[in-house]
Amino acid sequence: MPNTVLVGVQWGDEGKGKVIDVLTKEVDVVVRYQGGNNAGHTVEIGEEKNILHLIPSGILHPGKMCVIGNGVVVDPVALLKEMDALESKGAKMAGHLFVSDRAHIVCPYHRALDAGREAKVKSEHKIGTTKRGIGPAYGDKSSRQGLRMVDLLDPIFPEMLGQRIDEANCVLKAIGGETVDKKQTITEYCEAAKRLAPYITDTITLLNKAVDAGKSILFEGAQGTMLDIDFGTYPFVTSSNSTSGGACTGTGIPPHRIDRVIGVIKAYTTRVGEGPFPTELKDNMGSLLQKEGGEFGATTGRPRRCGWFDAVVARHAVMINGIDFLAMTKLDVLDKLETLKICVAYECNGKEYTSIPANIRILEKCRPVYEQMKGWNSSTKEVTRYDDLPKEAKAYVSRLCELTGAKLGILSVGPKRDSTLRIAI
Ligand code: GDP
Ligand code: IMO
Ligand code: MG
Repeated sequence: MPNTVLVGVQWGDEGKGKVIDVLTKEVDVVVRYQGGNNAGHTVEIGEEKNILHLIPSGILHPGKMCVIGNGVVVDPVALLKEMDALESKGAKMAGHLFVSDRAHIVCPYHRALDAGREAKVKSEHKIGTTKRGIGPAYGDKSSRQGLRMVDLLDPIFPEMLGQRIDEANCVLKAIGGETVDKKQTITEYCEAAKRLAPYITDTITLLNKAVDAGKSILFEGAQGTMLDIDFGTYPFVTSSNSTSGGACTGTGIPPHRIDRVIGVIKAYTTRVGEGPFPTELKDNMGSLLQKEGGEFGATTGRPRRCGWFDAVVARHAVMINGIDFLAMTKLDVLDKLETLKICVAYECNGKEYTSIPANIRILEKCRPVYEQMKGWNSSTKEVTRYDDLPKEAKAYVSRLCELTGAKLGILSVGPKRDSTLRIAI
């Protein structure tokens, strides 16, 4: 398979984990390039449901190289917990998992600062973060206060960590947050360092050598385009570049070695956390989508907000990421609907918007302009060939692709590996 970046098109939880798992058998390496354990990627194999947070979703395929790139922020304790859970299910870590020595570390004070800020600010300023310390960890990276995996292995690490804890505790006291136990944290992180040492390596060289040797790489995006720090609904975003550009900065693989981009897109829209969501349905239809789609966060268990498909968002994502193919998921969730709505533009104060306004105050007031389509009112769950789909379902999918401007590569009609129709990839 060509070197491929896979990104989320909407606000995350599009089904990236499932699509990565399906594509992994055709690649040699799967690499995460941004985010941290705020991500929750579900891979259902048989009756078993696996939720990956930090480890690439390819890990469930024996013999594949799985890399946590330099652009990821890693909570070492959470990583070990995830490794242990996967090993208990038979997955092999040694020789398969590689963690960048340049990846930044998430520390307990990042989580405390994340939670402290969320608790302190007025409700309209709450982001609804996953409280995994992601924002403060990337903040430290940008302000050059961060600690990296390479530091974890340095004899002066306890001293460096102690100093950061003292500084963070001053801030935590000032904001009324929960301070961090210095001794306990240093002990816990030094123990984690010993266990993680064999996995920490120069992944930049490792990945570039793999590309030179003709191996194929799948770049696993976390979150979604609308949660990207630059291109999303700022400030209601995460703190990294979840879009395809992040694949280069988050791994050290140069742009010309990437061949194509796949955008994973739900056949409707969901969002977890706060922030504008023009097609959100706060009525029975929203509850129906939530129930039929099992829309509860894979990381925090929070109910996901649900709404109609938003083609303005999808077009924005296709443009920014350079999406060649769409992997459309969860078509089956719409099986029981009589009619479907698609948002083709926004309207605000008499003005029509066909692209996302940067001003969040305007976006919050935007009303969707809808077109309607007939539903198919029958099950697509068992369909294995695109041609066998009900004609209304085909019409809906092709209208979404037409409005979005990208080709359909994969169509998913269920959470399992075999509920996947391969169309063009
Ligand atoms: P990710 O964060 O993008 O990997 O997505 P999540 O795992 O957070 O959420 C997607 C959810 O939808 C998971 O529970 C998947 O098992 C499930 N899923 C993925 N594809 C499909 C599909 O085509 N149909 C249905 N019904 N569920 C799906
Ligand atoms: P996957 O990879 C959905 C959301 C949070 C919050 C905002 C900022 O599973 O698609 P953060 O903890 O990152 O500072 O929170 O981003 N968020 C996600 N929403 N899926 C995710 O990841 C998310 N990761 C973060 O709910 O609104
Ligand atoms: Mg998720």
